[in-house]
Amino acid sequence: AGVFTYDPGFTSTAACDSAITFIDGDNGVLTHRGYPIEQLATESHFLEVAYLLLYGELPTPKQQQDFETMVTRHTMIHEQMQYFFRGFRRDAHPMATMVGVVGALSAFYHDSTDINDAHHREVASIRLIAKMPTIAAMAYKYSIGQPFVYPRNDLDYAANFLHMCFAVPAEPYQVNPVIARAMDRIFTLHADHEQNASTSTVRLASSSGANPFACIAAGIACLWGPAHGGANQACLEMLREISTVDRIPEYIAKAKDKNDPFRLMGFGHRVYKNFDPRAKIMKETADEVLALLGVENNPTLQVAKELEAIALQDPYFIEKKLYPNVDFYSGIILEAIGFPTSMFTPIFALARTVGWISQWKEQLADPQLKIGRPRQLYMGDDVRKFVPINDR
Ligand code: CMC
Repeated sequence: AGVFTYDPGFTSTAACDSAITFIDGDNGVLTHRGYPIEQLATESHFLEVAYLLLYGELPTPKQQQDFETMVTRHTMIHEQMQYFFRGFRRDAHPMATMVGVVGALSAFYHDSTDINDAHHREVASIRLIAKMPTIAAMAYKYSIGQPFVYPRNDLDYAANFLHMCFAVPAEPYQVNPVIARAMDRIFTLHADHEQNASTSTVRLASSSGANPFACIAAGIACLWGPAHGGANQACLEMLREISTVDRIPEYIAKAKDKNDPFRLMGFGHRVYKNFDPRAKIMKETADEVLALLGVENNPTLQVAKELEAIALQDPYFIEKKLYPNVDFYSGIILEAIGFPTSMFTPIFALARTVGWISQWKEQLADPQLKIGRPRQLYMGDDVRKFVPINDR
């Protein structure tokens, strides 16, 4: 017996100290290592932000080049892993495939992953960041019955991912640089977000000394839920279901109805009680990409903008401080690029991997590291006498 603080959902418990990401939810501020997300999203790019998250400082040109070369050289996965993919049903959700395949990396690198060895930790980090796009693209190709496409070292991180998803042997994929830039920005906006559910899952899994591939697989599993990363898929499906602006009030009413479990997907956040700064950048990017593709009158975007405008004037959403979050506009961009909704959460997972890894490395470097072991308030029966089955 003991006296514990009861904090369901960890709304007021800090589980660690961290120097990676800061969120001021009341003012809609997000910084990585002190740099505002707005600056990183527009002036930097994903692999530079990855370096910043991992090592704490912006890289010099030489450090950046060496880092990008390392990542590029690790993009292939063991040829044997193709058989692992082929064991899945074609209609499996790509997130299900990713949980399995990323966990299986533990089986391929068991002899070179001693988490007590700093070099091994470094190599495992690079491997995960490098291979995640390959694994996500393979999960996609497998689900649509197309041949796997190998990574290309001459392309940057985002362009290579688009190539692996959309090229076919019969026809090379011409990567549009504006689309590649938008893809890179989506990765950057998802790179880290302090102690969210999946990051906390990675930290909890790793606190037992588990290997990093298993820990990241645990993070992917947690991210999949619709209250977390799965919201990007659920949001676009919701916008498509609403389909026309005149049906918005019906859905707003459902979201407000306490007897209806429906929630506006892509709305609300545990920490932000103001605009999610990522959502603002995502909205601008959606406008840019759709204009470039000549589909600025996209009906889903119209529904999204109108839904946002109506919700932000509704007393229910105002009172509860519910604003659009990162998942509200991302799906519209991903759909315009050509991704099916089932790939939205895998894309979130591949981008968040660097955040998970940065947090994992920070945790392992903490001299105070203890196994994560929450306590409980026991509400069950007192001690009872066992009754044999025939006497019940
Ligand atoms: N639509 C309608 N009502 C909502 C919504 C919503 N999207 N979000 C919260 N509420 C209400 C909720 O019913 C509750 O009302 P009451 O106080 O009367 O019971 C109040 O607002 C507070 O909600 P909560 O569930 O206690 O808040 P939370 O901090 O536990 O949950 C959340 C945060 C993100 C899970 C939630 O807002 C939600 O379910 N949103 C929809 C899913 C979504 O978009 N998730 C993505 C999160 S952002 C990044 C990511 O992880 O992908």
